[in-house]
Amino acid sequence: MRIRLIAGNWKMHKTVADLEPYFIGLDSAFYTRQVEVMIAAPFTLLTPARQFAEAEGVKIAAQNVHWEPSGAFTGEISVPMLKDLGVSATLIGHSERRQYFSETDETVAKKVRAVLDGGITPILCVGESLDERERGVTNSVIRRQVLSATEGLPSPGPMIIAYEPVWAIGTGRNATAAQAQSVHSMIRSVIGTRFSNTVADGMRVLYGGSANPSNIKDFLEQPDIDGALVGGASLKAGDFREIIRLAAN
Ligand code: PGA
Repeated sequence: MRIRLIAGNWKMHKTVADLEPYFIGLDSAFYTRQVEVMIAAPFTLLTPARQFAEAEGVKIAAQNVHWEPSGAFTGEISVPMLKDLGVSATLIGHSERRQYFSETDETVAKKVRAVLDGGITPILCVGESLDERERGVTNSVIRRQVLSATEGLPSPGPMIIAYEPVWAIGTGRNATAAQAQSVHSMIRSVIGTRFSNTVADGMRVLYGGSANPSNIKDFLEQPDIDGALVGGASLKAGDFREIIRLAAN
């Protein structure tokens, strides 16, 4: 049985002063017994957010990490640094990182390996652009992203995959539940071929891209959608709480 996961992605939003009112408004402790909840916070908030989040049953994740444990990489943060703060998961390869910060399938693969070696959960983000969808190459793009990120791994460990069509992120234009289900089931079969059917059956695959309280139910009704990675709608405690409540039912 795969436990549903609702993960917020705060991106480059919020400061320390926002935390207390947010977590009071989230008031999610009741629901987090039935659904796992996580927030990927900016590096500056990892420690202060954890203090509030823990009381609400919410885990805090990072949004990015470097693959080397230490070194001359100004501005980067490593796996041991995340572990130092008690952070147990991180997004990897979010499309905004790929698009604006030149992340490639190769750097994503290095990050996945470093994170797994360090005992942290990678949330691997994959997704096709609008142009790729319109050209009918969605499945081959996603397959390539999943295969390259897992190349040479003996096991994906606790890896979670987030399918986020780039054209649906922050646009208010979500994929349909059927479109998402079709890609999710393809991802699960790629994982099954790479590792085993048991691994594929146990792996959580999240949908991301304009997920909100009005469309979350449709996504979660799909057999291969195990939760959501929520950007814009995770910034308002009330909206995020509603998504969590609907996922818990
Ligand atoms: P969105 O962002 O929900 O605002 O579309 C999702 C994401 O980028 O993870």
